[in-house]
Amino acid sequence: GPLRVLVFGAALRAESTNARLAALVARLIADTGASVDLATMREFDMPLYDGDMEDAEGLPSGALVLRDRLERCDAFVISSPEYNGSVPGVLKNAIDWVSRVRPQPFKTKHALLVSASPSLFGGNRGLWSLRIPLEHLGTRVYPDMFSLARSYDGFAEDGRLADPGLQRRLTETVQAFLSLVEADARYVCLQRR
Ligand code: FNR
Repeated sequence: GPLRVLVFGAALRAESTNARLAALVARLIADTGASVDLATMREFDMPLYDGDMEDAEGLPSGALVLRDRLERCDAFVISSPEYNGSVPGVLKNAIDWVSRVRPQPFKTKHALLVSASPSLFGGNRGLWSLRIPLEHLGTRVYPDMFSLARSYDGFAEDGRLADPGLQRRLTETVQAFLSLVEADARYVCLQRR
């Protein structure tokens, strides 16, 4: 069947520019014929990680929702803001909760990391920080990343990027990522025969 890709923005606020970037990436993925599951962080609402809560009740429902949706995908894309040069606590907390499940759902999945920020760096330092927990968990984090700087002026009315050169670069990054995921899926199928 077609590739299944989970895409989510990692900020909670309704007007999140990362949610807009996630929606644009989801459109680019759907254009290739792959199937997309577009989510927002609000759907993965969960308390702060607490080992006592885990011992008493297991995972909170928001973490189980994220776990289920990761399990159903071949690859995922996160559009994350950068907070103080690093990963937003909301996203790190979600990764920490979901990492407690066995089989651990981040393992061997392919991931593409993108970011949007009003700053000139576009949140790129946050993505380098995000690589650490994901690679620790065995996620195959795609080497190339995409960061949208000056994000508050970055989108056109139709949801595409206002700068055509950046729109082209984002499209190419998404397509190259999907080619790798597809090649790997074929290789795994051949090995299983
Ligand atoms: C920020 N922001 C920010 N931006 C950045 O480029 N580098 C940074 O280190 C930070 N640090 C930071 C810390 C905290 C606590 C907040 C709340 C914000 C600004 C951030 O990029 C901006 O709020 C974006 O709009 C967040 O993404 P969404 O919500 O538009 O998706």
